[in-house]
Amino acid sequence: MGNRNVQIAVPSTGEEEWQAIREPIMNGWLTQGPKVESFEDAFAKMHSVKHAIATTSCTTALHLILAAMEIGPGDEVIVPSFTWVATANVVLYCGAKPVFVDINRDTFNMDPAQVAERVSERTKAIIPVHLFGLCADIDNISAAAPGIPIIEDAACAAGALYHGKSAGSLGKAAAFSFHPRKSITTGEGGMITTDDTSIARLLMKLRNHGAEIPGGKDAGEQKPYFLPDINMLGFNYRMTDMQGAVGLVQLNKLDPFIVERGRWARWYKEQLGDIGWLHLPKEPADGRHSWQSFVAYLDPDKSPLTRNEIMEFLQENGVSTRPGTHAVHMLNLYRGIFGFHPEDFPVARDCNDNSMAIPLHNRMMPEDFEHVVETIRKI
Ligand SMILES: Cc1ncc(COP(=O)(O)O)c(C=O)c1O
Repeated sequence: MGNRNVQIAVPSTGEEEWQAIREPIMNGWLTQGPKVESFEDAFAKMHSVKHAIATTSCTTALHLILAAMEIGPGDEVIVPSFTWVATANVVLYCGAKPVFVDINRDTFNMDPAQVAERVSERTKAIIPVHLFGLCADIDNISAAAPGIPIIEDAACAAGALYHGKSAGSLGKAAAFSFHPRKSITTGEGGMITTDDTSIARLLMKLRNHGAEIPGGKDAGEQKPYFLPDINMLGFNYRMTDMQGAVGLVQLNKLDPFIVERGRWARWYKEQLGDIGWLHLPKEPADGRHSWQSFVAYLDPDKSPLTRNEIMEFLQENGVSTRPGTHAVHMLNLYRGIFGFHPEDFPVARDCNDNSMAIPLHNRMMPEDFEHVVETIRKI
């Protein structure tokens, strides 16, 4: 066991992805094309939505959704204070104001009661995050802000279920990530899902510089050899066909990946459940956690060492860990703009300081899991 070094996350790519990428490389269709389209169709089907629109990342997917909703200066968007910074940054990209709410420590997700307090006539959208693969409390968030569109930040939640419904089908639109720390990857990459056909068309246009879609209802007599008209400010957020090819292979493995992660997550809970200072993640009674990460809360009043000391001990003993994520209001960028104090969102601050992800990915061997448990038990 001496030299064992268990990584926090390793993508499960290999021979099949390698083979899949050959086709676009060999035939020369490298930018968005037939592979991306097939990936989108398969992703939409798997998440029970009408449309899936691939992008370069989850960040650009979220930005595109806000742009399509014409969110801009003077508007407010409610976001959780404990999430990856991108959830709030996309609101700033649009010139709008992110309005933070605190989270629930048991789920690490947005607290619906706080949404009710922070909603105003300027609120144009809410972005609940399905953090680490556990769906946010969408029913109570919607009830707290009737009529306000919900945009799911489903970066971590491909394949997750909420009361039997797929993440990505719970609001007006959703954004997924295929960064290598997620369950399935395309290197970088993202996907928007929506049931709203008019916003889907607009998103496709905005993803491609705002260009009219050939054959679209606005295209008129457009011929493929003419350049399209541009009548709105768009972006280049297109996914490459090489990524689309990898995504198709990865998507076929999503379900077995989640099943395997779930099995090991439950094993961790059995093995570590008696440690009083370690609060382990919960599974939804009527849903499916996608186990993008296994994140525990370390009770600072009971823990023998601080979270950072524990992370250091584990690292020295071949177990890689990370803080769950960060409290965005504590980042210097956000402190500078909004003058936040760490205690403005005390639960987010607490989770910023006391959460810890332990290794859980599909490249781990049984001995790796055993090593993680044995090392934690030495603390
Ligand atoms: C909750 C959340 N939102 C958004 C993102 C951004 O995803 P991407 O890296 O694909 O832009 C991440 C990535 O870590 C995330 O965890």
